[in-house]
Amino acid sequence: MPSFDPVAIRSDFPILSREVGGKPLVYLDNSATTQKPLSVIDALSRFFSHENANIHRGVHYLSREATNAYEGAREYVKAQIRVPDTHEMIFVRGATEGMNLAAHCLASRVSEGDEIVLTIMEHHANIVPWQVLAAKTGAVLRFARLRDNGELDLDEWKSLFSARTRIAAFTQVSNVLGTVNPVVEMVAFAKEREVLTLVDGAQALPHGSVDLTEIGSDFYAFSGHKIFAPDGIGGLCAPREILDSAPPYQTGGDMIEKVTTEGTTYRKSPERFEAGTPNISGAVGLAAAFRYLEGIDRAAAAAYEESLAVHAAEELVKIPGIRIFGTAPGKAAIVSFHYSAAHPHDVGTILDTEGVAIRVGHHCAQPLMDYLGVPATARASFAFYNNESDVEAFLRAMRKVERYFG
Ligand code: ALA
Repeated sequence: MPSFDPVAIRSDFPILSREVGGKPLVYLDNSATTQKPLSVIDALSRFFSHENANIHRGVHYLSREATNAYEGAREYVKAQIRVPDTHEMIFVRGATEGMNLAAHCLASRVSEGDEIVLTIMEHHANIVPWQVLAAKTGAVLRFARLRDNGELDLDEWKSLFSARTRIAAFTQVSNVLGTVNPVVEMVAFAKEREVLTLVDGAQALPHGSVDLTEIGSDFYAFSGHKIFAPDGIGGLCAPREILDSAPPYQTGGDMIEKVTTEGTTYRKSPERFEAGTPNISGAVGLAAAFRYLEGIDRAAAAAYEESLAVHAAEELVKIPGIRIFGTAPGKAAIVSFHYSAAHPHDVGTILDTEGVAIRVGHHCAQPLMDYLGVPATARASFAFYNNESDVEAFLRAMRKVERYFG
């Protein structure tokens, strides 16, 4: 039975007991990347110590073992996020590559004057691939706005759909605001209008389990490194029918059926989009991370990390000049803020002298920064291995910022 014991969980992550600059590490940059539990680190070590070989190509024992590890990882991860039978999961470098690949697969389905509906809270990875597609095809992008609390204005989003809308791409959880979008409702609305959907799940999986049969989107992209797995691995889930009718993305070994000097025929997905030697160990590490998560009561973990974020936000706003961005109900454990007395980079630098790691900057969401009217924010983002001492250390460090600049 999955359970949640924050004290035990913290001890699974060796990096959390290190010091930085003579201070205990307080890691609050989880939306950028998460730390890795020992079980994931051990899985990588075991793979390289026992199973490492190239896959799909060898008749030898080790190659068969590595192939089983890689394909076994795919099947296991697909089962964990409940990828529908009609869909396949391509291993990609991360959500960014996943969304680039999705835009590539959809290129032939978009023509001049067609419309792609996005939201203003998207990460660059869910904007720029569509801009590139629009530049190639003559399609037009439409951006939905937000309410003051950082919630998507769903009525306005719906009103952007027209007879020319072909694609709607939106994040499940905002990496800046923590807003959780009603993706089931959004996908259903788009589907009724025969509009293809892509959900960016990069910031959702770290905060809870995901069931793709329930979400129902055509495309779903995520990154391993944000869910306690290694970097350089992630997944793009998409309908086989779209994948197998799209031209290859990259070409080379393993994705071909037959190559002659005259031309080449291509395999079906997933191999079609996994040219060359893939990130085999990354897939093994990704499966290990999901196996680790399987033992955790994700709902209890999410409630716990949200309570840490709520406490941090409640205390933070007591500092005059602090403004928090994103206060939507049910938001994920991400606290973005602006301090009128100091640039976010100065805030981050002073916090760093206290061992507190946060992210400052535009968070790869410049259109959102423009919309909010700030050049950058500071962002503390929480994971289930954080604790109240981390919150206290963060708040102590913020009071130091206040003493310097306030
Ligand atoms: N997308 C990552 C973040 O929000 C890198 O920090």
